[in-house]
Amino acid sequence: MRVLVVGRIGQVGTELALKLPAAGHAVLSLEPPELDLLRPATVRPAFDSFRPDIVVNAAAYTAVDKAEDDSVLAYAINRDGTALLGRETARLGVPMIHFSTDYVFAGDKPSPYVESDPTGPVGVYGASKLAGDLALAAANPRSVVLRTAWVCSAHGGNFVKTMLRLGRERAELGVVADQHGAPTFADDLADAVLALIPRLADAPAGHPGFGTFHLTGQPFTTWHGFAQAIFTGAAARGEKVPALKPISTADYPTKATRPANSRLDCSHVAAVHGIQAADWRVSLERCLGKLLG
Ligand SMILES: NC(=O)c1ccc[n+]([C@@H]2O[C@H](COP(=O)([O-])OP(=O)(O)OC[C@H]3O[C@@H](n4cnc5c(N)ncnc54)[C@H](OP(=O)(O)O)[C@@H]3O)[C@@H](O)[C@H]2O)c1
Repeated sequence: MRVLVVGRIGQVGTELALKLPAAGHAVLSLEPPELDLLRPATVRPAFDSFRPDIVVNAAAYTAVDKAEDDSVLAYAINRDGTALLGRETARLGVPMIHFSTDYVFAGDKPSPYVESDPTGPVGVYGASKLAGDLALAAANPRSVVLRTAWVCSAHGGNFVKTMLRLGRERAELGVVADQHGAPTFADDLADAVLALIPRLADAPAGHPGFGTFHLTGQPFTTWHGFAQAIFTGAAARGEKVPALKPISTADYPTKATRPANSRLDCSHVAAVHGIQAADWRVSLERCLGKLLG
C-alpha cells in the first residue's frame, strides 16, 4: 500500500515512519515546510504526486496549555487542517486514519468513556480536536478517528522523559494522583495503524470499520501510578530516582484544565478490528530500554 503520513517527526509520526516501511508499505512521511497544514497550497501537490492508497494524519497542535492563549493557531491546525485532509482524501477516494484525544470529554464521568458518550471539551485543545474530528467525518465517510490518551515514546517530549529528567534533578517529586487514565505508547499506536490499513483499504463507506474508536494502553492508573512504574524501571537500570509523593490536581495548577477521568473504554476497537489495548507496562519497559539501555 502507498501510505502518506502527515506529521513525520512527532511521537506517533516517528513510529509510523519506522514501522510502515518495515511492514512492506511504500511510505511518504511529510513535515512542514513540505506539507504544512497552515499552508493549504502544500497539501494537494503532495497528494497528487504520491497518489496514496491511504492517509494517516499524525500531525496536530498538541500544546495543551499554550492552546488556551493560541486558539487561532490550534483551530487552524486541528480543525481546519484536519478538514482539509478530509476533503483531499475524499477527492482521491481513499480512507484516512486520524488521531484524537480524551480531551474531547469533560472528564466528569465516573466510569470509562465509550465512543458514544457525549463530548464536552473543557479547553481549547480538546475543542479544536473535536471540531477537526467532526469536520473529518463530514468530509470523508471512509475515515477512522482513533481517540487516545497520555501518549509517550522514546522520541519527542513526553511524561516518561520529563519524569526521568526530574528524577535526576530532584530528591523529592509530587505527581498528580487524582487524574485517571492509561499511558499509551506511540509504537503500539503504530502497530494499530498497521493492523487497520488492510482492513480499511477496500472497505466501502458505511462499513462498520470506519468511525470513532478508543485506543489507549491498559490497565488504568493515575499519573502518580505511571510515575511509580517509570521510576521502578529507571532504578532497575541504575538511575537516580526521587522520593515520589501523591499530590492533587489542585496542588499542580495548569493553564488548561485536565480531565479527571481520561479512562477510555477500548472494547469497541477490539470487537470490530480485533485490536487489543497493549499492556503499557510492557511498552514502558521497551521505551526505558531504548532511553536508558
Ligand atoms: N501527546 C499526547 O499525549 C496525546 C494524547 C491524546 C491524543 N494525542 C493525539 O495523537 C496524535 C499524535 O500526537 P503526538 O504526541 O505524536 O504529537 P506531537 O509529538 O506533538 O507531534 C505532532 C506533529 O504534528 C506536526 N505539526 C504541527 N503543526 C503542523 C502543521 N501546521 N502542518 C503539518 N504538521 C504539523 C508536528 O510538526 P512540528 O514538530 O514540525 O511542529 C509534529 O510532527 C495527535 O493527533 C494528538 O492530538 C496525543
